[in-house]
Amino acid sequence: MNNVFKGRSLCVIEDFSIDERRYFFKKTQELKRAILENNEAVMDSFRINDPDFGIYEVFLEDSTRTKESFRNAAKFHHAKVSELLCDSSSINKGESYADTFNMLSGYSNRIFIVRSKVEGLTKWLSEETSEYAERNHLPYKPAFINAGDGKHEHPTQELLDEFSFLERLNMDFSEIHLALVGDLYHGRTVHSKANGLKIFDKVTVDLIAPDELMMPENYIEIMKENGFKVNIYPSIENYLDCGDIAKIWYFTRPQLERMGERILKKEAELREAITFKREFIDRLKEGTKFYHPLPRHKEHPTIPTFLDKTELNGWEEQAINGMYCRMILLSLIAGKIGEDFSGQSAIEKDYKSEEYIVEVQPENKDNKEKNISEGVRPIRNGIVIDHICKGDSPEDIRKHIRLISSVIGLDNARGGEWISHGSDGKFKGIIFRPDVMDLSRKELKRLAAIAPHCTLNIIKDGKVAKKFRTHMPPRIYNFEDMSCKNEACISNPVNKEGVASKFYRTNDGGYRCAYCGKVHSFKEIWNKR
Ligand code: CP
Repeated sequence: MNNVFKGRSLCVIEDFSIDERRYFFKKTQELKRAILENNEAVMDSFRINDPDFGIYEVFLEDSTRTKESFRNAAKFHHAKVSELLCDSSSINKGESYADTFNMLSGYSNRIFIVRSKVEGLTKWLSEETSEYAERNHLPYKPAFINAGDGKHEHPTQELLDEFSFLERLNMDFSEIHLALVGDLYHGRTVHSKANGLKIFDKVTVDLIAPDELMMPENYIEIMKENGFKVNIYPSIENYLDCGDIAKIWYFTRPQLERMGERILKKEAELREAITFKREFIDRLKEGTKFYHPLPRHKEHPTIPTFLDKTELNGWEEQAINGMYCRMILLSLIAGKIGEDFSGQSAIEKDYKSEEYIVEVQPENKDNKEKNISEGVRPIRNGIVIDHICKGDSPEDIRKHIRLISSVIGLDNARGGEWISHGSDGKFKGIIFRPDVMDLSRKELKRLAAIAPHCTLNIIKDGKVAKKFRTHMPPRIYNFEDMSCKNEACISNPVNKEGVASKFYRTNDGGYRCAYCGKVHSFKEIWNKR
């Protein structure tokens, strides 16, 4: 029977579908119960018990819980654990991540657990090492688990957080009302919640943080797109004054190591807004539980230690759940469990090919001459790109016209460009190039990505011989003159890994980086000239 989990990578939470995650939680609950009841027979049904199976931990950033819970989860499975000693590895001699992980893949390592400040690293490594495995005829493709990448995601933390919330909700997926408190700007665990919480049918999220630490707009947008109700509050004090307080609170610590000088200067004031105080206790709802991915800061914990011995403490069991969840994850990736899964798998997600240059009927069907002018003379032969950046300001349109001309390779041809009004009175840009008679498929794709919603007119003998409308391609990749503009992303040139950028179109007409998830406008993906 096909096991959809076997050999899978988990780089972002969406790498597992909602059905797959719900299956994961059910299995975690079964295993946790078996362990607590010391039911060896059930435990054995989850155990990998394969002497060749092992995990390889590569922690390029510090960790206690993630690293040690994976190590102990592997012990449960009687699997081996290897670790790259990052401080003394050849990465410090300037070796690329590609060379490092390809090599380790060749040494029979099949599951890598990787933490790094470089965003999208595991996603790219899973692609890179697959190619390496193929060209070296390895009998497997390595799987990658993202153990936290910069400010991006922490998908295994997300699984254990969701499992902990579900235990509190008696495994009921129908609804969650969750308060996220703390450093929502830098915290990857809260960013994973933008898609992670989709396992619940109805979601209300209260975001509690001062402006400097507020959740980035793109994650708030994702939450809203996912149908979540999102409320924003600047401090706990302010939140407690609102009528409808959540019973599940998720705190994070201020991530000082990721903050710039400007924010660090306001450290005390920011901590004040997101630290729970003794006098707030009476204002909480009955049955409230607090969670925290941990670590807490020993001097300035956002959940003070006097709460440890209260009913509010959900964070200790949450941390223990991390080990159960990681046991299940390894069991799934090893193919020990998963055959009884039924439902939609994320591996069935496919990007349908879609035409992005569509031929439309020229308006001069009766072949009447159309006044497409080159200065004062009508153009007789060549191309005219019309409706560029319709509705933008003339200054912005001019700027973009220059970029289009350069990206499509029209800079050295005769012709010109101008700004005019459309019939609706909005500004639009026009580029004309007499003598350029056609564009190649590659140029057309570039045109559609840099000038969507335009028309391309092919003019012959003074008439519009053909007319096309451009639409944003659903995917765009492998062009050297575009890049993700997030400097923390593995595909950004500053990281010098030579990773070709890749973007997927978003529902609202942006381009999302396939590695770090940053959303760009169609203008932003191209490099400045
Ligand atoms: N929650 C978490 O990721 O903890 P560590 O940084 O200790 O792994």
